[in-house]
Amino acid sequence: MPSRRSISRTVEFVGSFPGPVPETGLREVAFAGRSNVGKSSMLNALLGTRKAARVSSTPGRTQAINLFRVGGALAIADLPGYGFARVPDAVREAWKPMIERYLGERDALQLVFLLVDARRTPQDMDLALYEALVEADIPARVVVTKVDKLKKHERKPAFAKLREAYGLPAGQPIPFSAKSNEGVKQLWAILNDVVS
Ligand code: GTP
Ligand code: MG
Repeated sequence: MPSRRSISRTVEFVGSFPGPVPETGLREVAFAGRSNVGKSSMLNALLGTRKAARVSSTPGRTQAINLFRVGGALAIADLPGYGFARVPDAVREAWKPMIERYLGERDALQLVFLLVDARRTPQDMDLALYEALVEADIPARVVVTKVDKLKKHERKPAFAKLREAYGLPAGQPIPFSAKSNEGVKQLWAILNDVVS
């Protein structure tokens, strides 16, 4: 059996890039999703820290691609969130070309985690991004964040709805909570596979 590498949970902030993102020489995974969905919190939960990525109560704060080097083995790109109404037009308009360019040109990119909020019905922008990833042959996994906010009986129907809307295979969407740490192990298994 091939042995899976295990990435150590040390993190280094490479930088914040509104424009071209520098090469790291490492394989890369990106976190995408609406503003406030929990991208930065997920990164912190995976690393077992509160401070690798800045968590904001004000949605739309991360307006550049924040790049991290994890365990010296993998790069993680925390992409700026979209879909938040109360940001200046110029900021909203800058998002699309930034993301399109990144997704279109990033040779190191292996996988995108598309994060969706457990309490929201499938959103047009999320579905459009998912379709664009499929079309571009970029592997994507849908992760449901903040599952701690769902009552037990709400989970099954919420997941079924997402599975249907995105046309997901069994095993997706992946439940995640930065509060309870549910899903941390599963996401690490996927990240370890990326570098193996
Ligand atoms: P932008 O950078 O603005 O796009 O947001 P983001 O997607 O990085 O979200 P962020 O991690 O900053 O979290 C937004 C808010 O959601 C914060 O108040 C977090 O504390 C909260 N939050 C994130 N993840 C969870 C979770 O798993 N459970 C709960 N209950 N709250 C969460
Ligand atoms: Mg963020």
